[in-house]
Amino acid sequence: MKRLCVIAGDGIGAEVVPVAVDALRRLLPDLATESAEAGWGCFERSGSAVPEATLTSMRACGAGIFGAVSSPSHAVAGYRSAILTLRQQLSLHCNLRPIRSWPVISPRPHIDMIILRENSEGLYIGRERMDGEGRAIAERQITRKASEKLAQRLAEVAALRNARRITLVHKANVLPLTCGLFRDSARQVLAEAGWSECVDERLVDVAALQLVESPERFDLIATTNLFGDILSDLACHWSGGLGTAPSLNWGDGIALAEPVHGSAPDIAGTGRANPLAALLSAALLLRYYWHLPALADRLESAVANFLQDAGTVDFGDRTTRTIADGVLARLG
Ligand code: NAI
Ligand code: MG
Repeated sequence: MKRLCVIAGDGIGAEVVPVAVDALRRLLPDLATESAEAGWGCFERSGSAVPEATLTSMRACGAGIFGAVSSPSHAVAGYRSAILTLRQQLSLHCNLRPIRSWPVISPRPHIDMIILRENSEGLYIGRERMDGEGRAIAERQITRKASEKLAQRLAEVAALRNARRITLVHKANVLPLTCGLFRDSARQVLAEAGWSECVDERLVDVAALQLVESPERFDLIATTNLFGDILSDLACHWSGGLGTAPSLNWGDGIALAEPVHGSAPDIAGTGRANPLAALLSAALLLRYYWHLPALADRLESAVANFLQDAGTVDFGDRTTRTIADGVLARLG
């Protein structure tokens, strides 16, 4: 029996996650689900952004789906973004973010790439301090171990999609120790896995330009945490914007699907939230965690067919419902 931990979170998380859970229930009739809490609302209610019970539930289920959480952009004592805590506590070391052209909503056809973002370290270790002399300092940590783990996933995904090109994105010209360690560790793992001939490199600034200029040329991209965060938001313009961008936080024997978008307080409660990012995140669980590519294909085809027939994703106050009904009806 398959189990799924459902963490709706804040804002539109609670609106889009149930749609993805409905889709998974249709495709996996024996799926057992359990709800767990996380986020800003949870912190205000209980004093903890990620209660121990949520971690326990995730570990027991193995698979989870997470909506979004709100985080204030100033320091609040005792609060740290729930998704960062979940990624670190559950050793979800890799974040897989596919970007592809969809009918109607993509500004350009023939784009099909995956960004693999290191998910556990870099600037997101949260070690910031003031030195008392008007200097704010943030530490950036890169380890051989985490870089190799990411590269092992990279080799696995490259084999699954028969990759033609693997691009390592870094800034080793300015940060030769940290970015250099990331690049060299990844290159070594990829060489051992037989992928040397497909590997190339880009400095992150030029990678950003090329993702805008000629996104078709990318296939698999691997990069460090902050660069991956920024480049994946940029690249998801090509799939139709944040409302369509899925991701999978992926560890060893554990995975948490998560739309790339946040809690969208500007539209929460209006019925306008696009559930496609959450639905496509559920497809990533099917493909990569449960190893059920045929079911993932079915869900992605239902999305493509819905978009083709609908001709738009803007249904005003009925966006969430109309897209949910349209995709679920096409699941067969
Ligand atoms: P956001 O992704 O929530 O929203 C950015 C813009 O995109 C907004 O105009 C929003 O209405 C729109 N949007 C996002 N998702 C949409 C969807 N599914 N359908 C239609 N429109 C959508 O990012 P923002 O505004 O920077 O952050 C809002 C809150 O979310 C903050 O508290 C931030 O910390 C948090 N956040 C959480 C993330 C997570 O939980 N993984 C990721 C990013 C932000
Ligand atoms: Mg982001």
